Parts: sequence; C-alpha cells; structure tokens
Amino acid sequence: MKICFLGCGNIAQAIIDGLIKSGMQPSNIACIERNEQRVRSLKSQNLQIIELENLASIDFDLIVLAVKPKDALSAAQSILKHAPTAIILSVVAGIGIEKYSQPKSIIRVMPNTACAFGKGVTAIYALDQSSVAFSSANSLFRKVGHVLTLQNEDEMHRFTSIIGSGQAFLFQVLNTYLKELEKISSTDQVAAKSMFQDFVSSLGDSFSQNPSFESLINKIKSPGGTTQAGLESLEKNNLDKILQDAFKAAENRSIEISNE
Ligand SMILES: NC(=O)c1ccc[n+]([C@@H]2O[C@H](COP(=O)([O-])OP(=O)(O)OC[C@H]3O[C@@H](n4cnc5c(N)ncnc54)[C@H](OP(=O)(O)O)[C@@H]3O)[C@@H](O)[C@H]2O)c1
Repeated sequence: MKICFLGCGNIAQAIIDGLIKSGMQPSNIACIERNEQRVRSLKSQNLQIIELENLASIDFDLIVLAVKPKDALSAAQSILKHAPTAIILSVVAGIGIEKYSQPKSIIRVMPNTACAFGKGVTAIYALDQSSVAFSSANSLFRKVGHVLTLQNEDEMHRFTSIIGSGQAFLFQVLNTYLKELEKISSTDQVAAKSMFQDFVSSLGDSFSQNPSFESLINKIKSPGGTTQAGLESLEKNNLDKILQDAFKAAENRSIEISNE
C-alpha cells in the first residue's frame, strides 16, 4: 500500500510512527508539508517529501488529509485539482463529509495519538462503506490499532470528544497526580517521572488482566479505609459530571466547527 499525507504534524506523525512499527516501509509513505522544520524532521525519517503538483505522478492508494480544520476544505480541493480520482482520508475534526466539494471522494477517520504505539482507536465513516477504498482505509488503521466503523456520521462528534480529545482529559487528570507526588519533599523529580511511568502503564496492565473498573476498585478499597474516603470525596464533588461536562464541551465544539 502506498499512501501520502497532506499535512504532517502531530497526528500524521503518530500514524506514521505506528505504520512503520507495524512493518510498513518509509519508502511507501510520502508527505506534502509546508512547515520547513517539519520537512527536515520527515526527511530525517527517510520519508519521501513531494510537492502537491506531483501528486498524480505517483499511484497512491489513499491520501490522508491531516491539516487543521481551517485549512481542510481548500487543501482537499487542491488534492482533487491535481488528482481528480483520489480518495481522501480526512482526519480533520468537525468537518462533515457534505462540506467537501466531492463528498463521495472523502472517507472520514478520527484517530488518536495512541496510533504511534499500535494502540490507536480510530472511528471511520464514509457514504459508501462497501468500496475498495473504504476497506483499504480500514486495513490501514487496523495496522495501528482498533477501528470502529460508524453507521451515522453524527456519532463522530461524540467519538471525537471521548477518544480524540478524551485522551488529553486523562493526561490532565494524571498531571494532577504527578504534581501531588512532586510535592512530597523527598521526591527527586526525575525519579518521580520514572515511578509515574510505571504507575500509569500499570493501570493499563490491570485493566488488561481484569476489564472491570468496579472489581479493580474493589480490590483497592476496604470499608472505612483511605481509598473509600477519597472515592467518597470524588463522588461528593461529582467527578462523573465534571468529566461528562468535558465530553459535552468537546462534542459541542466539534458540532460548532462543523457549522462554521
Ligand atoms: N492531534 C491530534 O491528536 C488529533 C487527533 C485526531 C484528529 N486530529 C485532526 O488532525 C488535524 C491535524 O492536527 P495536528 O494536531 O496534526 O495539526 P498540526 O500539528 O498543526 O499539523 C498540520 C500540519 O499541516 C501543515 N499544513 C497545513 N496546510 C498545509 C498545506 N496546504 N500544505 C502542506 N502542509 C500544510 C501545517 O503547517 P503549518 O504549521 O505551516 O500550518 C502543519 O505542519 C486537525 O484537523 C485535527 O482536528 C488531530
């Protein structure tokens, strides 16, 4: 499979890292990028840098559109100007398929940065889900993690908030833990980060072994103990609502972007 990324910033880099880890050759990945610093970094990874004007000269299976929402519609139009039969895999948040000049040429995907470790979770949607391109897009993202096929494009807003943005909400919560740990006066900051790496990855290990949060919590909590006291405080302060409000805010912003 030969693919080209238009826009090679954070999310494109995460997908590229995951694809290369999965065994894809860098020579099968091309990038169109305008940011000089990014271009230098991409070249150092032996990725092919091409100009938009040369898009049609290489037979790409898929072209991944990975620019910010404000740049997306014009970039998609430029792709179709140079490669009119191209199938564009848009990772752009919030912009619905019908907003593009040729909706049938667009497959929407919403990956997250965990693609870099082969642990991505990607939602995918297209008007025609029986096409060869749709199944190629599915296979591409299965190389870097899990794929969830949506039947209704509106579900992309909620998925974006929980899985796309939601990763950052958990990072924010974990950062509070790290800051608290660093407040203990004998903590060496470098050691704290290293301890914390194991603390965070062990959460995933625990869930892999026992995928029930209720039972994992019950293994830590004892009646009248410290965990119980902390959990009661979280409940009193309505942690569920705080997070649900964050999901809703991100979902609403995704809907807003789609209407801008
Ligand atoms: N980051 C995530 O975790 C994530 C997850 C899921 C989806 N997304 C979506 O992915 C898209 C990209 O996000 P990102 O965080 O990767 O953004 P980013 O780091 O800013 O990367 C976009 C890159 O594309 C370049 N670019 C923009 N227009 C271009 C053009 N016409 N030709 C060539 N290069 C162009 C930008 O250059 P300049 O710096 O010069 O603008 C930038 O280097 C967004 O629409 C976002 O909604 C992101």
